[in-house]
Amino acid sequence: MKKMFRTLVLFCLCSLIGVFGDETNKIHSVSVMEGDSVTLNTDVTEIHEEYNNMLWRYGAKKKVIAEISRNYGIFYTYDDVPDGRFRDRLKLDNQTGSLTITNTRTEHTGVYQLEISGTKLTLKSFNVSVYVRLPVPVIISNSSQCSSSSSSSNCSLLCSVLNVCDATLSWYKGISVLSSISVCDLSISLSLPLEVEYQDNNTYSCVVAYSFVNRTQHLEINKLCHTCEGTAALIYVYFLT
Ligand SMILES: *[C@@H]1O[C@H](CO)[C@@H](O)[C@H](O)[C@H]1NC(C)=O
Ligand SMILES: *[C@@H]1O[C@H](CO)[C@@H](O)[C@H](O)[C@H]1NC(C)=O
Ligand SMILES: *[C@@H]1O[C@H](CO)[C@@H](O)[C@H](O)[C@H]1NC(C)=O
Ligand SMILES: *[C@@H]1O[C@H](CO)[C@@H](O)[C@H](O)[C@H]1NC(C)=O
Ligand SMILES: *[C@@H]1O[C@H](CO)[C@@H](O)[C@H](O)[C@H]1NC(C)=O
Ligand SMILES: *[C@@H]1O[C@H](CO)[C@@H](O)[C@H](O)[C@H]1NC(C)=O
Repeated sequence: MKKMFRTLVLFCLCSLIGVFGDETNKIHSVSVMEGDSVTLNTDVTEIHEEYNNMLWRYGAKKKVIAEISRNYGIFYTYDDVPDGRFRDRLKLDNQTGSLTITNTRTEHTGVYQLEISGTKLTLKSFNVSVYVRLPVPVIISNSSQCSSSSSSSNCSLLCSVLNVCDATLSWYKGISVLSSISVCDLSISLSLPLEVEYQDNNTYSCVVAYSFVNRTQHLEINKLCHTCEGTAALIYVYFLT
């Protein structure tokens, strides 16, 4: 009896997998930065009988936003669905059925479902996350003034970015990380200090990064850090003129 039950369960599982293909429970995570395009791939090389009809659905209500029906020559995107957020932004590849969302905005975040029907039914889901566009970090000097003491051989710097979340801000010396922070507070800027010697010949850069994309600002010590001699020379010139 027990064995029969197990066989029955196995049979049911198998038929489920048979009907929906093995992609059913897999949600593909896709990350994109606001303003960039993202393509959701069907992984179909060419639309033929096996993939006669394709429907792209969006959101909890699974509204149809694109449709391909080979038999009826239908090849449409419905970009007024659900509320116009996709207007002029949807592109269907007529070979593969892949859907591209151009010029993404955070409101395009959500689950997109592809339903392929023909000789078999296949479902595929994409969890699309659209992240706020990363600004290039800004580096400023925090050395208020030049002093003649020995400690002034160092230049104090601050790297910062405004309005980012889920991002990491780091100082790099060459390719190695010196320090990093990751805070989500959209109301304050994220900033990270660094001390370098005026004579330092290494290359430093400040990088703000999501897991999938980053933006870099290179440090130009000569431009940001003014040595005491430089200041003295300027004062001298000032008195001469
Ligand atoms: C597919 O799209 C290309 C470029 O947009 C177009 O030249 C071609 O005629 C289209 N093919 C079909 C079958 O619609
Ligand atoms: C989609 O991804 C986001 C961010 O990674 C996550 O918070 C959310 O739970 C995911 N949704 C689904 C349905 O997997
Ligand atoms: C900038 O420098 C001043 C004076 O040296 C210091 O008090 C302050 O904490 C520094 N700011 C940051 C953000 O490190
Ligand atoms: C100057 O910076 C270096 C690191 O760049 C640090 O090791 C050193 O202690 C600093 N010196 C002073 C006087 O702050
Ligand atoms: C940096 O380079 C200059 C000239 O290339 C050299 O004179 C100086 O000693 C170097 N400084 C350090 C700290 O390596
Ligand atoms: C930044 O992104 C590029 C590719 O876009 C990658 O090669 C590089 O390693 C990334 N840098 C960091 C610090 O994450």
